[in-house]
Amino acid sequence: MSFDWTTIEQEAQKEINQASSAEAIEALRIKYLGRQGLLAGITGSISSLSAQERPEFGKKANYLKNKLTRLFEERVSQLKEKEAHGLETFDITLPGEPIPQTGSLHPITQTIQEITAIFSKLGFVTKEGPEVENEYNNFSGLNIPLDHPSRDAFDTFYLKSPQSTVHSPQSVDKRYGLSTMDYRLLLRSHTSPVQIRVMKEHKPPLAVIVPGKVYRPDAVDASHSFVFHQIEGFLVDQEVSFADLKGTLTAFAQRLFGEKIQMRFRPHFFPFTEPSAEVDISCILCSRKPRADSREPKRCSVCGGKGWLEILGCGMIHPNVFANVGYPKDKYSGFAFGMGIERIAMLKYGINDIRLFYENDLRFLRQF
Ligand code: DAH
Repeated sequence: MSFDWTTIEQEAQKEINQASSAEAIEALRIKYLGRQGLLAGITGSISSLSAQERPEFGKKANYLKNKLTRLFEERVSQLKEKEAHGLETFDITLPGEPIPQTGSLHPITQTIQEITAIFSKLGFVTKEGPEVENEYNNFSGLNIPLDHPSRDAFDTFYLKSPQSTVHSPQSVDKRYGLSTMDYRLLLRSHTSPVQIRVMKEHKPPLAVIVPGKVYRPDAVDASHSFVFHQIEGFLVDQEVSFADLKGTLTAFAQRLFGEKIQMRFRPHFFPFTEPSAEVDISCILCSRKPRADSREPKRCSVCGGKGWLEILGCGMIHPNVFANVGYPKDKYSGFAFGMGIERIAMLKYGINDIRLFYENDLRFLRQF
């Protein structure tokens, strides 16, 4: 009688390794090592062998029995270990658990990105300036006179500057004819001072957009905050006209609010532009046919029935501003504009209280 010992051993080893439960292993153990199992059958056949054949046969049968016993033991402890690590019960075909929303950009950041993207396609580059500014850049350089109400302590946060940061008043005064006040530090009240910074550093042609935080000591209510965001824009070159300003702002507003939006430029005053205008868009909620007068019944919650919404201030850059940054007289012309980002976002998303932007209420923020 002869057996293919190697094949039996390999088959058994394969089966044992594939067994993935205690029951399957037990079934195999019975199949191979049980009282009526394969090995018992093999050992039983020894009686039919000659005396010379028996020792060799016995050795091989013994070896197989020991080998299988060891394989079973190993497999059992392997499975136990896997179970302890939870690997055996891990079903890789099970759909994953949804990951809770990890976060998203703040609606103000999203609005800034949207606005800068539109202007970037129109050829404007984005620049930033410091939130702590000197009085010259924030006011004097922009042709805002010393007695202008926005320079009042009720309208601007002034900082106590350490003596070392204040330039020597006398020498500065003499050379540039500046006021000692020009070197007081403050939290910028608008993004317009970045016009001065950029123009002092670069010659035209320039097309720049400046997003950033601005500060005013306003009491907080549904439409005011002591810190908010603005975007400043300005373009300087030779022979820039008011028509360029209108075209640029119209293209911008139609991209942001939709092609159907209408624009209205109302004459206004800003010290740093001449002529100046405030710009309205037709109401995005009531789509009322815009009317020149505001005697409409106050039905619309967004425009109050006027049909128009103010979105920004703008104008042609004042020659005094060009002089202040050292541009040659009469060589350049340019336009500038500034808008409040919160206001734009409130109009775009129908938000009725500015405080919602700053309260970190996830129920609000998750909607964006
Ligand atoms: N700086 C103005 C403000 O804070 C906004 C503004 C108006 C900016 C007209 C401009 C402009 O550049 O031309 O109210």
